[in-house]
Amino acid sequence: MDEAQLFALMRPRKVCICRGVSEKEIRDTIASGRASNFDELQRETRCCTGCGTCESHVRKIMNDELSQKTAGSG
Ligand code: FES
Repeated sequence: MDEAQLFALMRPRKVCICRGVSEKEIRDTIASGRASNFDELQRETRCCTGCGTCESHVRKIMNDELSQKTAGSG
């Protein structure tokens, strides 16, 4: 297996396994303004409403996306 195939396999990684929510979904939800905090993000995507293991990862992505948004809106 070459590197491209390996990345293709890894690409659609789910951040929240329980609800099948990907990093892209989390970023899109924030970027589109449908969520601006963790509660809203949970409501919109249902991420982190199962076992809760993904919470720190979800928060990290959320904070990263929010800071990009703030920086971008100048
Ligand atoms: S992995 Fe997200 S709630 Fe379980």
